Amino acid sequence: MRVKIANRAKSIKPSPTLAVSAKANEMKAAGIDVINLGVGEPDFNTPEYIKEAGKKAIDDNFTRYTATPGILPLREAICEKFRKDNGLDYKPSQILVSPGAKASIINVLMTICNPRDQVFIPDPYWVSYTSQVEMVDALPVLLSTSESANFKITADQLEKAIEKSSTPKALIINSPDNPTGCMYSEQELQEIGEVCVKHGLLIISDEIYEKLVYDGQKHVSIATISEEIKDHTIVVNGVSKAYAMTGWRLGYAAGNAEIISTAGRIQAHTTSNVCSITQKASLTAITEDDGSVEKMRVEFEKRRNKLVKDLIQIPKVTCFKPQGAFYTMPNVSYYIKNNKHGIEDSIELCAYLLEKYHIALVPGLAFGVDGFVRFSFATSMENINKGVERLAAGLRALME
Ligand SMILES: Cc1ncc(COP(=O)(O)O)c(C=O)c1O
Repeated sequence: MRVKIANRAKSIKPSPTLAVSAKANEMKAAGIDVINLGVGEPDFNTPEYIKEAGKKAIDDNFTRYTATPGILPLREAICEKFRKDNGLDYKPSQILVSPGAKASIINVLMTICNPRDQVFIPDPYWVSYTSQVEMVDALPVLLSTSESANFKITADQLEKAIEKSSTPKALIINSPDNPTGCMYSEQELQEIGEVCVKHGLLIISDEIYEKLVYDGQKHVSIATISEEIKDHTIVVNGVSKAYAMTGWRLGYAAGNAEIISTAGRIQAHTTSNVCSITQKASLTAITEDDGSVEKMRVEFEKRRNKLVKDLIQIPKVTCFKPQGAFYTMPNVSYYIKNNKHGIEDSIELCAYLLEKYHIALVPGLAFGVDGFVRFSFATSMENINKGVERLAAGLRALME
């Protein structure tokens, strides 16, 4: 074929998390007992009351195009959710419902970024942020963090990076965070928010893991800190993680009416409205509560406690205790630096662990940092226990 792929498309890397799952599934299909610890979705089923609403939408023939930004009752319910959960006041015209939070983020990036605009992203980062920024011809600027600083950026660090940039445009912040599970405090968010306001940056606040927080903490949305910060923030959230609805595909963005309506115009020419059935099911998910969300959260917290306790028993492994989401990033750098098997980075380590010990983990390098692996606890306690045993055995064997 003589048609050449565009440079923009060529530079996009495949999603490493999906690649790990695909390889693990291939091995499973070949009869190998693989434990997949790379998954990025709850292992629970969508709660019954939500599924019933989806079935009813089909039976009621609610199966046609809807308004592009989402049906009004859903956008009203999202406004009510913001008022109730976050103390944030938005009008339905400030809400855009999209096919997943992933779509919400790229819609916003398409709306605000000109070529070569810089978008600041804490490192380690969720894999799609950098790719999405590149897809709109903007430039991701990584802000490095460290395990000892709980994987968080500081306002000072952000300000220094902005001052070096000629085209600063936005900051993407994710709290609770994938892949580290860190959470920003109100004070930290205030300092970061004030820097963004001072330099005229848009804050894209990805709050998809809002409902999954542990140790009795409360999630704080950066948009609640002040009116000025709220005005500079687009809050992104969705139903995937909180309600175990990853396959239904619904996320939403809230904020400045001009940005939201322009993003809506983009969506009108790409995906149009989110599946009408999904919208009805999500309306029920958001407005009703049968206790399943809390049950899932409690189970995630139990798994996290056991997992971190066991991981730090492995010699030379340290592990930041995640405060939210369902991932943890044990530090295995000792084994990468000192092994006798020629393994030189987290990608090679994960390939070895999958092949020889049949556990699928995502290499830290996929998220921008080496020396770590991401362990998802969105799987059964039995799998978690077996996974840690296999990881310990695999690491031990590397030193022999
Ligand atoms: C940090 C983060 N943001 C957004 C998403 C995407 O969510 P959705 O399923 O709503 O597109 C994910 C999914 O893995 C995520 O981890």
